[in-house]
Amino acid sequence: FGTPEATGEAVSLTIDGQQVSVPAGTSIMRAAAMVETAIPKLCATDSLESFGSCRMCLVEIEGRKGYPASCTTPVASGMVVRTETDKLRKLRRGVMELYISDHPLDCLTCSANGDCELQDMAGAVGLRDVRFGFEGANHLEGCKDESNPYFTFDPAKCIVCSRCVRACDEVQGTLALTVDGRGFASKISASQGEGFLASECVSCGACVQACPTSALIENTVIEKGTPDRAVVTTCAYCGVGCTFRAE
Ligand code: FES
Repeated sequence: FGTPEATGEAVSLTIDGQQVSVPAGTSIMRAAAMVETAIPKLCATDSLESFGSCRMCLVEIEGRKGYPASCTTPVASGMVVRTETDKLRKLRRGVMELYISDHPLDCLTCSANGDCELQDMAGAVGLRDVRFGFEGANHLEGCKDESNPYFTFDPAKCIVCSRCVRACDEVQGTLALTVDGRGFASKISASQGEGFLASECVSCGACVQACPTSALIENTVIEKGTPDRAVVTTCAYCGVGCTFRAE
């Protein structure tokens, strides 16, 4: 969650009453993390370029209208930022309601139960009820892509945060994935909908590691459950930086 890229001289600002000094160009989200303030997020990670799609990380900036995404908004000198207000809490709960209204409610039997960022974030924003119908929840059920021998893609559990698309691009440089369609019809697509096996995918697993839900999940996790312990290492064979997870 570092983009826009930090490059310039130091900039001082206030976040939730705390003074912080960071290089110019640092995102508000990263500046907040430096003073131990964790802003809710779903599409941002600490290693991928920020994208600003999930709208969970909204903040208030004194003197500015609207609620910008903190992951894509750079700091400015003298800025006064608030990350936790009643209005922000309400907005985040509303956004989370929309996600959950389009998500299967099978957490107790889901392979990612207890290891799911959507589940964690729903709890973090205090979601208790969902006011909206579950119109979209099932429209992609039964559309699993099981063509890859190592992992499965279940679009019904996908929140289209595009972390997998960015990981494929930025970590592996393969460009095997894209987002097709708009609104409820938008979905992650490999090889124009033909599936992972038909695509340029090299099975590096970067997309699986980047996924915040169980939309992309290793087949071993589906078969055997979440491991008690996992170690992530970077392959030293070449300079690409593929990562591997040993369980
Ligand atoms: Fe900032 Fe998703 S984390 S918009």
